[in-house]
Amino acid sequence: MTRPMTNPSAPGAHCLAVILAAGEGTRMKSARPKVLHEVAGRSMLAHVLAGVMEAGADRVAVVVGPDRADVNAQALRLAPSALVFEQRERLGTAHAALRARDAMAAGCDQVLIVFADTPLIRPQTYGALRAALQDGASVAVLGFEARDPTGYGRLLREADELVAIREHKDATEAERAVTLCNAGVMAIAGPQALALLERVGDDNAQNEFYLTDVVALARAAGQKAVVVLAPEDEVMGVNDRVQLAAAEAAMQTRLREAAMRAGVTMIAPQTTFLSFDTQLGRDVLIEPHVFFGPGVSVGEGAVIHASSHLEQAHVSAGASIGPFARLRPGARIGARAKIGNFVEIKASDIGEGAAVSHLTYLGDATVGAKANIGAGTITCNYDGFDKFRTHIGAGAFIGSNSALVAPLTIGDGAYVGSGSVVTQSVAPDSLAIARGRQVEKPGWADDFRKSHEGKPKQRP
Ligand code: UD1
Ligand code: MG
Repeated sequence: MTRPMTNPSAPGAHCLAVILAAGEGTRMKSARPKVLHEVAGRSMLAHVLAGVMEAGADRVAVVVGPDRADVNAQALRLAPSALVFEQRERLGTAHAALRARDAMAAGCDQVLIVFADTPLIRPQTYGALRAALQDGASVAVLGFEARDPTGYGRLLREADELVAIREHKDATEAERAVTLCNAGVMAIAGPQALALLERVGDDNAQNEFYLTDVVALARAAGQKAVVVLAPEDEVMGVNDRVQLAAAEAAMQTRLREAAMRAGVTMIAPQTTFLSFDTQLGRDVLIEPHVFFGPGVSVGEGAVIHASSHLEQAHVSAGASIGPFARLRPGARIGARAKIGNFVEIKASDIGEGAAVSHLTYLGDATVGAKANIGAGTITCNYDGFDKFRTHIGAGAFIGSNSALVAPLTIGDGAYVGSGSVVTQSVAPDSLAIARGRQVEKPGWADDFRKSHEGKPKQRP
C-alpha cells in the first residue's frame, strides 16, 4: 500500500532509533568522517539525531565505524543518553543495524532505522513511518519517485502491498524499470525487529546483509509491509562534496522559505545563508549577502544590511546592523542600537539606542544605553595572555580614533577626546583627553620651504 504522509501520533509507543553512521565516506576525500560534515551549520549526524528525537524516538543507538572516537563523541554530546555501537566490518546495512542488538533486545514498540548521511529528512516524515506501524504494518519503508533510479533499491509492489525491495545490482531488467525507490529509512515493529533482522542472509550480488531483505522476510511470515512516500529532494543522500553542496542548497531553500513565510523580508534570498537554528523575528529585513552562523537570533523589525556576518549573537528589536558588520560570539545588541559599517563586536553588550557607527572593534565590553562610540574606537582587551573588560556608561561619548586599554570603566555621560589612548577609568560626566597637546609654530612651513628652494627633490 502506498501511503501519503500524515501527521504522526504514536502516543505511548516507545521508539528506538538506530542511526547507521559507519559509512567510510571515502568519496568525501576528507580527514573528517563523512557524517560530521556540516549542512546549515551542523553535522549531518546532528540533523538526523535531532530529526528522530523530534519525531519522538525516546532512545537512540548510533552505529559507528571502527576507531571513530570523534563520531562517538559528537553523538554523545548531542544525545547524552545515546548508545553507541561499533561495526568493525562493513558487511551490509542489516549487519550494521544488528550491532544495536542489545538496544533492540531491551524491548521497544518501534525500531526506526535511518542513515546518518541523509540530512534533509523531516521529523514529520519519520513520524509518518511510525504512524504506519501504528496502523498495523510490521515494516514501513520510506520511498520516493526517482528521476534516475540507477543504484537505488527498487520497491516492488503487488497491487497495493509492498512485497520486496530489490537492490539495483540484483534486479532484473523489468525490475530496473521501476522508478519507485527505497530512500533507506525503515520502521519495524519492535517485537518483530530482531527476529526479522537475524533472518537476513548475504546470498546476493554484493554478499552483503541487506536491510532491505526485511520486507520479503516480513511478508513470508505473514506480516504487512507498506511504503510511505517522500519527495526526492528530502531523501537526498550525501556521498561526495558535490552532493554535500546540493544538500546545503536544498536546506538553505527550506530555511529561507520558512523564514519568509514567518514574516521576514529577504531582498535576495539566494544570497542569504542561514543556520539550522537561526531565529528571525517578524518584519526583519535582510539585505543581500548576509551570513548567519549558528546561534543567532534577531528581534522584530531589525535590519541586517548587506554583506554582514553574524554568529552566536543576539540582535534586539529595531536594531540596525551593517552594511559590512561582523557580530562574533557573545555580541548582544540592544533595541534600536546601530552597528555600522566595518564594525566588529565580540562578547559585548551594546545598550539600547547606542550607536557604533563606523570602523570600530569592541571586544569584552559593555556599552550603556544611548552611548555614542566614535569612528575608529578600539577596545584593547587582550595583553597576549588575558582578556579584560571595558565598561562604557550610558550616554557616554567616545571621540573618534580612541584606544580604550582594558580593564577600564568610562562613567555614565563621560566624554573621551578624539585620538585618546585611555588607560585609566573616567568618572561620570568628566572629559578625559589622553593625547599629545597640539603645538603650533606660526610660519614654520613657509620657512621650511624657503630653506629648500632650488634644491633637487628626491622622487617619493
Ligand atoms: C541503500 C539501500 C538501497 C537504497 C539506498 C538509498 C540497502 C541494502 N540498500 O543502498 O535500497 O535505495 O540505500 O540511498 O540497505 N552502512 C553501514 N554499514 C554497512 C553498510 C552500510 O553503516 O556495513 C551505512 C552506510 O554508511 C550508509 C548506509 O548504511 O550510511 C547505506 O549504505 P550504502 O552502502 O550507501 O547503501 P546503498 O548501496 O546506497
Ligand atoms: Mg548509499
